[in-house]
Amino acid sequence: MSAPVATSAFSKDNPFPAKITENRLLNKPGSAKETRHFVVSLGDSGLSYKAGDSLGVFPTNRPVEVAEIIEKLGATGDELVSPAMLKLPAPITLREALSHKLALGSPTSKIINTLFAKATDPSDKAALGELLAPEAKDKLAGYLDEREYIDILCEYPNTRLTPQEFVDHLRKLMPRLYSIASSSKAFPHEIHLTVAVVRYTTNHRERHGVCSTFLADRVRVNETSAPIFVSNSHFGPPEDTSKDAIMVGPGTGIAPFRAFVQDRVACGATGRNWVFFGDQKSHTDFLYQEEWESYLAKGQITHLDLAWSRDQILKVYVQDKMREKGAELWSWLNNGGHFYVCGDAKRMAKDVDVALHDVIVQHGGMTTEQAIDYVKQMKKDKRYQRDVY
Ligand SMILES: Cc1cc2nc3c(=O)[nH]c(=O)nc-3n(C[C@H](O)[C@H](O)[C@H](O)COP(=O)(O)OP(=O)(O)OC[C@H]3O[C@@H](n4cnc5c(N)ncnc54)[C@H](O)[C@@H]3O)c2cc1C
Ligand SMILES: NC(=O)c1ccc[n+]([C@@H]2O[C@H](COP(=O)([O-])OP(=O)(O)OC[C@H]3O[C@@H](n4cnc5c(N)ncnc54)[C@H](OP(=O)(O)O)[C@@H]3O)[C@@H](O)[C@H]2O)c1
Repeated sequence: MSAPVATSAFSKDNPFPAKITENRLLNKPGSAKETRHFVVSLGDSGLSYKAGDSLGVFPTNRPVEVAEIIEKLGATGDELVSPAMLKLPAPITLREALSHKLALGSPTSKIINTLFAKATDPSDKAALGELLAPEAKDKLAGYLDEREYIDILCEYPNTRLTPQEFVDHLRKLMPRLYSIASSSKAFPHEIHLTVAVVRYTTNHRERHGVCSTFLADRVRVNETSAPIFVSNSHFGPPEDTSKDAIMVGPGTGIAPFRAFVQDRVACGATGRNWVFFGDQKSHTDFLYQEEWESYLAKGQITHLDLAWSRDQILKVYVQDKMREKGAELWSWLNNGGHFYVCGDAKRMAKDVDVALHDVIVQHGGMTTEQAIDYVKQMKKDKRYQRDVY
């Protein structure tokens, strides 16, 4: 198999319409999670990628939600609109704008102000006025947090916006990035993704993450296509393949490390691999279990440390496993090992960072200040890299 050529006509400004050739649930029955493995065919795009890069996907909104908004606006969908923030050369239909161009979630107070200004119905006026009262800032924030635009249209049926007025409130629909979970050395013509499908309920309505459910539910395998682009990153396995790699990736954070290990195996890297993975339950959420166990059996990864947060009463997280193995972790670091983290930015990556410092203090015999300097130097040397979201 030859690798695709390095240059491509396709980019973020000119995304490639890619076929998805596989959409597979990674969790086993009984799991609370829905994490899916996707295979994206690069076809004749000429797109290339390297371990550590991300894939950009331009999603479209759910047709049922678009249809409901059109109905609540009392429109047909064929009306021509020019959404303010899109700066389009020519108007497009309301349906096209709502399906492909605009985000239907995360409403702002601007729409409440507009509805208040237009409201003639006394009860609408009073309710909107209450939300806009200076002392109701928290109430307004909570109200908006729980809602998407459709909820607001449903709640004020007597105060109607024109299609143009409505679209002027919406933000641009943005592409989403996904860490690439394959190595082009092993899969030159396709890209693998590991995606947590976002579904939850607020204000008694089921919500569907735009892009994760676009991939999971709306792109038909081998039929319809998804507009994609490759987003290059500085994140990547050690350039010096003799260096050890310590990879911490709970949940979907495992994605780039599947790529790293494939890459290092394909190029015969002599540096050792150590993977820390965690998720809710061992029986249902061990993503790519067979692959990791096979790498381990062949000695292609040296250690696989697993943290199952909901197999027992007390939570066990990847950073607990790091602390348990602190002495050996320090010896890998002290030997020039590279340390990588991927996944949740809000809590996990911060807690892992604290654990890394603790391990360096406890096992490297350093003071807290020295450990801080050591980690700063690791970052400068590109020995500590994060891909967090
Ligand atoms: C560099 C990078 C790499 C990434 N790699 C991956 C990856 O490999 N795999 C992966 O799955 N994701 C990855 N992501 C995240 C991904 O880009 C999307 O953000 C994610 O798929 C959600 O997008 P969505 O369109 O499905 O959901 P959206 O429609 O954007 O909805 C997500 C929003 O819904 C809200 N929300 C979610 N859950 C709840 C809840 N329970 N209650 C209330 N509100 C909630 C939050 O406001 C959240 O921001 C990555 C992000 C970046 C920046
Ligand atoms: N619909 C759902 O049911 C559902 C469930 C989970 C996640 N999600 C969403 O899916 C997205 C990505 O999920 P994901 O699979 O990548 O990861 P994730 O489910 O958020 O987390 C993966 C693992 O990390 C654990 N974890 C939580 N806090 C941690 C911390 N501070 N330090 C270390 N580990 C921690 C989790 O444990 P615990 O969760 O047991 O604390 C879980 O075992 C997130 O946006 C999340 O909000 C949805």
